[in-house]
Amino acid sequence: MKGVITAGGTGSRLQPITKITNKHLLPLYDKPMIYYPLTTLVQAGIEDIMVITGGEFAGDFLRLLGNGAEFGLKRLHYAYQEGSGGIAAALALAEDFADGEPVAVILGDTIIEGNVNRSVAAFAEAGRGAKIFLKKIDEPRRFGVAVVDGERVTGVIEKPDVPPTDLAVIGIYLYDARVFDVIKGLKPSARGELEITDVNNTYIEWGEMTYSILQGWWTDAGTFPSLLRASNLVAETGANKDEPVN
Ligand code: G1P
Repeated sequence: MKGVITAGGTGSRLQPITKITNKHLLPLYDKPMIYYPLTTLVQAGIEDIMVITGGEFAGDFLRLLGNGAEFGLKRLHYAYQEGSGGIAAALALAEDFADGEPVAVILGDTIIEGNVNRSVAAFAEAGRGAKIFLKKIDEPRRFGVAVVDGERVTGVIEKPDVPPTDLAVIGIYLYDARVFDVIKGLKPSARGELEITDVNNTYIEWGEMTYSILQGWWTDAGTFPSLLRASNLVAETGANKDEPVN
């Protein structure tokens, strides 16, 4: 199993602070934001990890993370995304790196209280299909929202005005190697991006998308309220704990 962290984007909702650095390098309490998703992958036993970023501060990732020795890694891989084509366009850059293996993808601003080790291990063993992680929240409109039926996901709707459920899709995704062919068939969405939700809906159409409902807290950090919330959660209760939350 390979790991991919998407850490590009312009951080437009965090202006002016993202004028001088990449969003994923901002502090969350006592560490740069990207430390948390990187820890999530390392905790799950993933040793081959690629960081995909872009923009004018890409070099700062190398200065901060180097070969990942601080995380017990032998090396880290990097890819550079030109422009802002969306999460799926970023993931496409990892095709050669994945080399036919399944991939665990985590968005660089996804911070969780526990770990997803159990799900990653089970997925690596099965090696086929896809899995998303869901969290019950009060206001899911800002996220992808999932509809489920028993073990299967039956649909994901990206930022719906009227959410059909309270199940937000968090930024951790497990895919088999077919994901790269799925991305090649995508068309840009209304916001001009290749959407990870469209990737997920393809696996759903195939009847091959499973899910896990996350326990413990989860937050993203792409807006000022969520950035503050993330720092407070990390400071008050800690992130990436030993307890499985999947
Ligand atoms: C992305 C996904 C969305 C998901 C969210 C999680 O949204 O498109 O489905 O719920 O990440 O953080 P974005 O932050 O790119 O708008």
